[in-house]
Amino acid sequence: MARVSLFSLTFATLLSFVGAQRAASTEWDAAYVKAEAAIANLSLSEKVILTTGVSGNPLYSTLFMPIRTIGEGYFSSSCTGNIASIGNISFPGICLQDSALGVKSTQGNSAFPAGITVAATWNRTLMYLRGVAMGEEFRGKGVNVQLGPYMNLMRLPASGRAWEGFGADPYLSGEGAYQSVLGIQSRGVQAVAKHFINNEQERSRASSSSNVDDRTEHELYLHPFLRSMQANVAAVMCSYINNSYACENNATLNGYLKGELGFRGWVMSDWYATHSTADAANHGLDVTMPGDVLPGSGISWFGETLAIAVDVGTVNQSRVDDMATRILAAWYLLGQDQDYPTPNLGSGGPDVQGDHASLIRTIDAAGTVLLKNDKGVLPLTAPRSIAVIGNGAGSNPSGPNACADRSCDDGVLGMGWGSGTANYPYLIAPIDAITNRSQTTNTTVVPSLSDSDLNAAATAGTGTDVALVFITADSGEFGYIVEWTDGDRNNLNAWHNGDDLVQKVASVNNNTIVIVNTVGPIIVDAWIDHPNVTGLIWSGLPGQEAGNGLIDVLWGDYNPSGRLPYTIAKNQSDYPAQVNFNISLTTLQIPYSEGLFIDYRHFDQANIEPRYEFGFGLSYTTFDYSGISVSGSVTSGSNYNATAVGASLDASLHESAVSVTFTLQNNGTVAGHEIPQLYVTFPSSLNEPPYVLKGFDSVFLVPGQFEQVTFNLSPYDLSYWNVETQMWEVSSAGEIGVTIGASSRDHRLFGQITLQ
Ligand SMILES: *[C@@H]1O[C@H](CO)[C@@H](O)[C@H](O)[C@H]1NC(C)=O
Ligand SMILES: *[C@@H]1O[C@H](CO)[C@@H](O)[C@H](O)[C@H]1NC(C)=O
Ligand SMILES: *[C@@H]1O[C@H](CO)[C@@H](O)[C@H](O)[C@H]1NC(C)=O
Ligand SMILES: *[C@@H]1O[C@H](CO)[C@@H](O)[C@H](O)[C@H]1NC(C)=O
Ligand SMILES: *[C@@H]1O[C@H](CO)[C@@H](O)[C@H](O)[C@H]1NC(C)=O
Ligand SMILES: *[C@@H]1O[C@H](CO)[C@@H](O)[C@H](O)[C@H]1NC(C)=O
Ligand SMILES: *[C@@H]1O[C@H](CO)[C@@H](O)[C@H](O)[C@H]1NC(C)=O
Ligand SMILES: *[C@@H]1O[C@H](CO)[C@@H](O)[C@H](O)[C@H]1NC(C)=O
Ligand SMILES: *[C@@H]1O[C@H](CO)[C@@H](O)[C@H](O)[C@H]1NC(C)=O
Ligand SMILES: *[C@@H]1O[C@H](CO)[C@@H](O)[C@H](O)[C@H]1NC(C)=O
Ligand SMILES: *[C@@H]1O[C@H](CO)[C@@H](O)[C@H](O)[C@H]1NC(C)=O
Ligand SMILES: *[C@@H]1O[C@H](CO)[C@@H](O)[C@H](O)[C@H]1NC(C)=O
Repeated sequence: MARVSLFSLTFATLLSFVGAQRAASTEWDAAYVKAEAAIANLSLSEKVILTTGVSGNPLYSTLFMPIRTIGEGYFSSSCTGNIASIGNISFPGICLQDSALGVKSTQGNSAFPAGITVAATWNRTLMYLRGVAMGEEFRGKGVNVQLGPYMNLMRLPASGRAWEGFGADPYLSGEGAYQSVLGIQSRGVQAVAKHFINNEQERSRASSSSNVDDRTEHELYLHPFLRSMQANVAAVMCSYINNSYACENNATLNGYLKGELGFRGWVMSDWYATHSTADAANHGLDVTMPGDVLPGSGISWFGETLAIAVDVGTVNQSRVDDMATRILAAWYLLGQDQDYPTPNLGSGGPDVQGDHASLIRTIDAAGTVLLKNDKGVLPLTAPRSIAVIGNGAGSNPSGPNACADRSCDDGVLGMGWGSGTANYPYLIAPIDAITNRSQTTNTTVVPSLSDSDLNAAATAGTGTDVALVFITADSGEFGYIVEWTDGDRNNLNAWHNGDDLVQKVASVNNNTIVIVNTVGPIIVDAWIDHPNVTGLIWSGLPGQEAGNGLIDVLWGDYNPSGRLPYTIAKNQSDYPAQVNFNISLTTLQIPYSEGLFIDYRHFDQANIEPRYEFGFGLSYTTFDYSGISVSGSVTSGSNYNATAVGASLDASLHESAVSVTFTLQNNGTVAGHEIPQLYVTFPSSLNEPPYVLKGFDSVFLVPGQFEQVTFNLSPYDLSYWNVETQMWEVSSAGEIGVTIGASSRDHRLFGQITLQ
């Protein structure tokens, strides 16, 4: 991750930490009572045990192993991270395990859709249920702490790990984070909000400085973490950084996180992201992971070194008490002191998949975004023949788990690569699902699963009623090099010359439908306007049920309702920011100079037409929006300090002040979900983006049916961050507009919010 430089951290922010009366969360209060009682029984040497990881994996390093060669099963006998047991308070230790999409490095687990695909459902219920199912699996394996959800924003379209998270908008990401944390923790597993903060690119993540202005930090990057606090998240992982390292950054850890946001759980370092003892402890780090200073070094920044720091007075005993209390409080908060299973990740461990496959398939179908459907070519009715073309329709011949941490792109792409992965129990290839589904419609399937054999592709595509062309784009964690890609993508092109494959097939088949499995946006302009490219399906990163989720949409068993969680541009240069690939001998500077204007906020502001805008997706039916009414008001010029908002000292700041109601009708011929979206337009004097997402829903309607939909907006939703006063503030000038629509650009209804 990256260091954060704070341009405008002022007195008010510092003040807001004083006292830091936390959220009036009775659950946390009760957990603290237990933790404090337990701490009272511990010696200093025992307390520092709690603050220090013990690595079962001495060679594991994210920073120091630039090209990974570790094979699968490396972690199979121990957890990604561990905290040791303490006998005399009956604390059995804690097992921490990757990843944000399933239990990593084991078997008998599910491979869930990635964060970016559940985000594309725009469906809070599915976000929550995915969290619940993952929580069941982590608990079933005896894991105390799931190292997820990931909530860094897709500031950069080529960002290597953005697929682990919920896309390019803070509000959508905040809902993804909130529901995921609630779901995971509902099963007694501690969730980890990560990475705090501004780890938006992989390149040079350990030696870069993310320079973010104070307003942008509050309005964009902090928001998903605020939502995580509101879901009582147990832990937070701080990121990699240089110089002013993120895991010893007082302003972000003590200021934002524990001060403004009122975080009461524990902060762990990312692996090897701790760089000091006293500074880290005094500035807000609670646990160092995986424990040692360098892999296998046998010494730690914490552990006995921390006890010595207390002895010599560079760290106060009270700080160590606080660190230990936070760790135990989170453990009590989740009820992990009662009947928690012991870790069992090795072979022969329990099968924890339950019936999660059907939920995964539902999420896959709901997270599939239909972007183009000329002449209603979809859903397929009963084509006589379908060509299935491209490596991405098939299987990796060596098996879906052949490459360490999924570090290859061979066969259908169900997830990116790196630590944010899990083993597949199986992986449904599109070719197999399509072949089976075709039997019900007596459709002949003609495959050509090579990306490079364009002649074979043309032969397969000639004369079939439909040609499905599969293309991919992959990325992942820094330190793995996959097809010349080291984490972040080098460009936004389809991999394996996918554009050539599409164009070749389109030259011979007038019903070419392109299916994209990808970590983020790709540029489709080489062929999207080709008259023979009749369809485009964005299949995301669907995990184990890839082919099944797809056929549900292809044959219309599920009426598509996925919406883009990011913008697809016509040109890569249309995006406001790109990965900084520069080499720096000191710290790589990453200025977030686009400020508030990331993704669609930039396209709207600069009046750049995207290929497909944020929030867009087609359905097999149509919806009519009518009858908007706005009730309630906010007080012009009212303001609230950051702690009141973040730590919810004043709960009313998050309660409904304004309701926006309208009628939604399915006026087409097929039942389906619509995803109505609410965007706010602030007074122009605030220099906010033209449209800012502040609400969405997922509404199922049969043909003819209509329903009243209501969006509630809180004072916080309608405020901006005033850097001078260091307050959240409702504008005192002008009006706040609301737009209800079917995407960030498909505006259907307009209203005004009264400022009193
Ligand atoms: C912030 O607001 C809360 C709630 O109104 C109040 O309790 C707290 O004292 C305020 N903090 C500062 C620093 O003004
Ligand atoms: C807990 O155990 C440790 C080591 O076994 C001992 O030093 C410590 O005094 C014990 N604490 C209590 C309160 O019994
Ligand atoms: C603390 O120690 C006392 C005395 O040994 C014991 O009764 C109590 O259960 C311990 N508390 C915890 C939380 O372990
Ligand atoms: C940042 O980290 C890099 C790589 O570890 C190191 O070479 C460089 O000296 C560091 N720079 C600063 C300012 O800490
Ligand atoms: C750390 O941050 C807190 C909260 O903002 C502040 O009260 C404290 O003075 C800061 N400490 C240092 C050493 O800057
Ligand atoms: C320890 O606590 C005292 C009293 O609150 C404070 O004055 C001192 O600055 C603290 N020392 C450190 C190293 O944090
Ligand atoms: C094949 O398709 C049938 C009918 O659609 C379905 O019931 C069955 O589960 C499918 N089999 C597999 C292996 O997907
Ligand atoms: C498929 O073919 C079989 C045998 O010719 C026929 O009985 C069946 O009705 C056909 N199904 C469809 C959906 O056309
Ligand atoms: C579209 O496909 C047809 C075959 O169905 C082919 O004859 C035609 O040349 C294609 N059009 C273009 C522009 O490639
Ligand atoms: C493709 O061409 C065939 C033959 O001319 C025609 O029947 C069919 O409707 C065309 N399909 C599309 C999707 O245009
Ligand atoms: C359904 O509503 C949309 C949006 O108002 C409208 O454009 C379309 O014509 C309507 N369709 C029918 C069949 O009434
Ligand atoms: C979310 O998805 C589920 C499953 O498709 C569906 O039943 C539900 O209507 C959707 N919307 C909401 C708000 O849950």
